Amino acid sequence: MKILSIESSCDETAVAIVEDGRKILTNQIYTQIEIHKAYGGVVPEIASRNHVMKMPYIIEDALKDANLTWQEIDAIAVTKGPGLVGALLIGVSQAKAMAYALNKPLIGVNHMHGHICANFLQHPDLEPPFLTLVVSGGHSHLVMVEDYQTFKVLGKTRDDAAGEAYDKISRVLGLGYPGGPAIDKAAKTGNKEAIAFPRIMLEKDSFDFSFSGLKSSVLNYLNGKKMKKEPIVVEDVAASFQAAVIDVLVAKTIHCAQTVHAPKICIAGGVSANSQLREQLTKAAKAIDCPVYYPDPVLCTDNAAMIGSSAYYNSQAHEYSDLYLNANPGLKIGDLA
Ligand code: KG4
Ligand code: ZN
Repeated sequence: MKILSIESSCDETAVAIVEDGRKILTNQIYTQIEIHKAYGGVVPEIASRNHVMKMPYIIEDALKDANLTWQEIDAIAVTKGPGLVGALLIGVSQAKAMAYALNKPLIGVNHMHGHICANFLQHPDLEPPFLTLVVSGGHSHLVMVEDYQTFKVLGKTRDDAAGEAYDKISRVLGLGYPGGPAIDKAAKTGNKEAIAFPRIMLEKDSFDFSFSGLKSSVLNYLNGKKMKKEPIVVEDVAASFQAAVIDVLVAKTIHCAQTVHAPKICIAGGVSANSQLREQLTKAAKAIDCPVYYPDPVLCTDNAAMIGSSAYYNSQAHEYSDLYLNANPGLKIGDLA
């Protein structure tokens, strides 16, 4: 089954064609990062306008790159949420129009399920059940993937998501947008033991996260330095901040995996592209004899191939959408309809 999938939930305009949920035939991503950089973050209205302008060309590129005709496409899939409502609506409208004009089935996809399914594209033999640490711009969740359609949230952030914290700290350090890759890079030449930022673990048995205290602690440190007119070593702040985030993500994931006896661990979402997270989680999981899976960085951040993979499993469960499909900016992990 060849599914043409569309992703437009934030600042990537993306189209892919995926076969049977596992094989990428083409993965076209047009990123608007350079446009939004000037504003220090994504401007929703500008994101929507760029989706409108680029989408038709990216769809053409996808078909050309995969060397396929419309007749060879079996279904149209699209991210229906969560995300920016205006941005989502561009993809949803485009997908509905194509499904109607071509008389093909339509499949609405939960963006966060897509992030998790990116692991199926990378690891063709991977099968549920597994525990997933989902870390992106809006999410820090521990999710038990019981089967292809059953996602149970075991823990989540009570305030900022990990990616959100990266983006905010990057902005105050003058490292720009997006913050994750910038801090990841700066941290490589910094000393992670230079500043003792807090590791907020919450209650002993909780799998929830909280990053707002860490964020305040970094801001207080920077303000204190500025008031005393002392120099700030950006690389050391980046490395120390990142170490505090990763220590918590790794410790909570391992504790959760042990508690629920997870046979394997996956990571998903933009922050899962982080080099330290990948390295340290793999090392910690080895000590409890649990394998760790993660996608290539290009499949960690937003893309349409992951939407095509998730759509395939929706179709296997007969979860199709009709032409009343609407964008749902607040869709939660675990929500299919
Ligand atoms: O999954 P994603 O592309 O979009 C959302 O669904 O939110 O995640 C974007 C987030 C941003 O906050 C970005 O700073 C972060 O992922 N990110 C990273 C890295 N690459 C992207 N965070 C840490 N290290 C990275 N290498
Ligand atoms: Zn995403």
